Amino acid sequence: MLAKTVLVAGASSGLGRAVAEALAQDGHTVYAGARSFAAGQEPPAGCRALALDVTEEENVRAAVETILREQGRIDALVCCAATFTMAPLEELPAETLENMLRVNLIGMSRCVQAALPPMRKQGGGHVVLFSSLNGLFSIPFQGAYCVTKHGVEAYGEALSQEARRFGIRVTVVEPGDCRGGSQKYRLTHIERHSPYAAAFRQGTDKIHHDESHGLPPERVGRAVARAVGKKHPPARLIVASPVQRSAVWLHHLLPRKLFNRFISAYYFSSKEV
Ligand SMILES: NC(=O)c1ccc[n+]([C@@H]2O[C@H](COP(=O)([O-])OP(=O)(O)OC[C@H]3O[C@@H](n4cnc5c(N)ncnc54)[C@H](OP(=O)(O)O)[C@@H]3O)[C@@H](O)[C@H]2O)c1
Repeated sequence: MLAKTVLVAGASSGLGRAVAEALAQDGHTVYAGARSFAAGQEPPAGCRALALDVTEEENVRAAVETILREQGRIDALVCCAATFTMAPLEELPAETLENMLRVNLIGMSRCVQAALPPMRKQGGGHVVLFSSLNGLFSIPFQGAYCVTKHGVEAYGEALSQEARRFGIRVTVVEPGDCRGGSQKYRLTHIERHSPYAAAFRQGTDKIHHDESHGLPPERVGRAVARAVGKKHPPARLIVASPVQRSAVWLHHLLPRKLFNRFISAYYFSSKEV
């Protein structure tokens, strides 16, 4: 397999870190980008640390320039950086939604815009965008996150159509629940005396349970590394348990009203909520 130069944005924890490690194991030159590396955090094994804040235009541009100066090219970009706050949509502060859009969607777009010109000039490249199963269907109290991940899906589809002519391939990754994500990004917002309190507790307990019993991050790391190593990478990559995969099919097949009832029954088993 040809060794490639790869930038992984959001590689200080969770899936991004696992992806960076898997790519380095495969012999690629991996730049692991995240803000924590500016504060001295150890990079993933075999990777070079790059201080990267996807919300800062100049910082993203400088990160890509560093890679070009040191390696002369950038073959693949993997965008994992994301933030995640659970809240009832009725109570979601506008600035929380703005912040999630700023990191999960606009930050991703900023990384893509910095990487595309060198990829075009060198005659090709591979952009890997982290969506989620929540980019395919929504679940309660993760509405804002689902909005950002549905945005990633739309962005990835259009980008693939536009950039193909330059030999640039796009893979949208849709993981199901995985263990090992940073607690820094498992935030909640609920008003005091909220009418959603009981449902929120039940729904978020279920979400935390599913994540802590989810797939090991190495499974996603390996799948993405395999895709990056391919000459013809897939347009989408679902990495999820069979049960979570079946929800994608149900979303596709069931009338929406029925699907919404099915999801509600899954998250709110008690009659009280
Ligand atoms: N875990 C899951 O079950 C799951 C399921 C489906 C999809 N996903 C997706 O997979 C990706 C990774 O999720 P995760 O849960 O494994 O990760 P995580 O542990 O929550 O880590 C998030 C990463 O994003 C980085 N980040 C946040 N804000 C940033 C910023 N402004 N600039 C640069 N980096 C920033 C963090 O680094 P710093 O704080 O150091 O900057 C960290 O490396 C996300 O896109 C997530 O939506 C996760």
